Amino acid sequence: MSITNELEEILKESKEVLSSSKTEQDLDTNKNLFIGKKGKLTAVLKGLATLSVEEKKTVGARANEISKEIENFVTEVKQNLKKAFYEVELKKQKFDVLKPTKEQEFGSLHPVTKIQYEVEDIFVSMGFEIMDGPEVETDFNNFEALNFSADHPARDMQDTFYTEDGNLLRTHTSAIQVRALKILKPPFKIIAPGRVFRYEEVDASHENTFYQIEGMVLDKKVSTSNLIYTMKVLLSEIFKKEVTVRLRPGYFPFVEPGFELDIQCMVCNGKGCAVCKHSGWVELLPCGLVHPNVIRDAGHDPKEWQGFAFGLGLDRLVMMRYGINDIRYLHSGNLRFLKQFAKI
Ligand code: DAH
Repeated sequence: MSITNELEEILKESKEVLSSSKTEQDLDTNKNLFIGKKGKLTAVLKGLATLSVEEKKTVGARANEISKEIENFVTEVKQNLKKAFYEVELKKQKFDVLKPTKEQEFGSLHPVTKIQYEVEDIFVSMGFEIMDGPEVETDFNNFEALNFSADHPARDMQDTFYTEDGNLLRTHTSAIQVRALKILKPPFKIIAPGRVFRYEEVDASHENTFYQIEGMVLDKKVSTSNLIYTMKVLLSEIFKKEVTVRLRPGYFPFVEPGFELDIQCMVCNGKGCAVCKHSGWVELLPCGLVHPNVIRDAGHDPKEWQGFAFGLGLDRLVMMRYGINDIRYLHSGNLRFLKQFAKI
């Protein structure tokens, strides 16, 4: 066979062999069979030496063309192999970039927040409006306007965090009563939830930070029976049963008369435990009829307007409802504790 024919044969054969390659590695090996150092084309080119100068030129030129053609063919096959490889791989690992890697965990509302929303709903259904106030208050709103004068001994009932500029962290949501009296035109019915602060010795039933809901009704004719009825509606709605309560006289400068509404301890059913300080009763709802001084100082006529007010401890309410025996759990951020309320 002449060298020219041999070259054409090599080209034909190389295309057949190269296109049968299954992988890129295969392809490299096959390529070397033809244009590698020991390849067929290289071997034929070595035979060029025996040809005449004229022949060398034409055959040499053709040999170069064939070598290039094989190179191009290798590139083409390589691209096809790559494409096929990725197509197979992509089919194998079908993944959805939007799909979460594991079952997603959602947080939930804190039990105090949940009970706050419930209490709000109960009062809103009775026509109350919800008010808000700041956590840093003036001495005037927290004490003075509530009938605690500067040297009033009742100030000692609430140990207080003062700020350097003479303001304070509100010790109770009653400060919002003062804001309501200033802003709203009577008659009105408001509740005001919020976080309050006391410089307290912390124990199973006392925290330095806790939550209250204040309530205030101002109208032409308001009596203790309106107050008691409203409180009973609230408690039976919250606990979904009749709750045993007792009313004791209580002293708060901004109400007259003032009461402590206690409920029978639901943690121990009145038998006595750490939460009720072994008395069987828990102070839950201090309340009373708004003191005429408070109404007068806010610019209303106490002969025309009367009212009742109450301050409900939300943390205690949560503790009673779920039988929690230590208030410190509530603000501990302990997930094992909090997760128990996620689905309630
Ligand atoms: N602010 C009082 C406290 O935190 C609770 C209180 C008592 C609120 C009587 C009232 C009330 O509205 O009438 O100790």
